[in-house]
Amino acid sequence: MNVMEALAARHSVRVFRSDPLPKTLVEEVLTAATQTPSWANTQSWEVFAAAGEPLEHLRRQYLQRFEIGEQPCPDISALTEWTPAAAARTAELRAERAALLGLDLAAPEGLHEFSLPNYRFYGAPVVVFLGFERSLLPWALYDLGALSQSIMLAALQLGIDSIPSYSLVLYSDLVHEVLGIPQDVAVAVGIALGYRDDEAVLNSFRSRRRPPDDAIRLLGF
Ligand SMILES: Cc1cc2nc3c(=O)[nH]c(=O)nc-3n(C[C@H](O)[C@H](O)[C@H](O)COP(=O)(O)O)c2cc1C
Repeated sequence: MNVMEALAARHSVRVFRSDPLPKTLVEEVLTAATQTPSWANTQSWEVFAAAGEPLEHLRRQYLQRFEIGEQPCPDISALTEWTPAAAARTAELRAERAALLGLDLAAPEGLHEFSLPNYRFYGAPVVVFLGFERSLLPWALYDLGALSQSIMLAALQLGIDSIPSYSLVLYSDLVHEVLGIPQDVAVAVGIALGYRDDEAVLNSFRSRRRPPDDAIRLLGF
């Protein structure tokens, strides 16, 4: 698979099989991804890959909190106001995914079922939590985004599926506690890794993109 093919093939997987990922494969993916460029080569990312009992413990705690409707406490807040164009694209994404699953997001049960995969970590056997020392905001986020894509493309090359997910870090106090992550590190996002379940309808979903001309301006050619 060349880079162009990999860029086209990568997509978020939201239902994984429970098959474990060998530690050596996860190490290979993460090591390859550390070739990612960063601001003045600061490489300020901190990477915590969780599997096995610590991950299962976290998953159980997340599900418990989700079921009682506990308020999320992420290290880095989500935006509350998006531009109308950005908000419209998110609304479209949610509506299309809900329609595929036959869920009514206006009904509490529909919203619950729609959100649940996030809190069960999509059934993934491995979650990579990505962070950086808090004082390095905002630029460390740029580097972390680049690292994330490298991780997902390296994983794809080795036949491993992925999803980047903010939901994975919503209860950041638990992530810090269970994985022993120091408080001066902000955990920004998680990437779930594993092998996709081809039987799952949700995995047939593909997000759409803006028409290239809408986002890209070519000047002076
Ligand atoms: C920073 C970030 C956070 C995300 N958080 C979530 C999430 O909490 N739940 C989810 O289902 N998808 C999440 N996604 C996945 C996006 O919805 C997905 O990347 C986007 O719709 C494009 O689809 P694709 O990855 O299949 O190409 C997140 C993606 C990024 C980059």
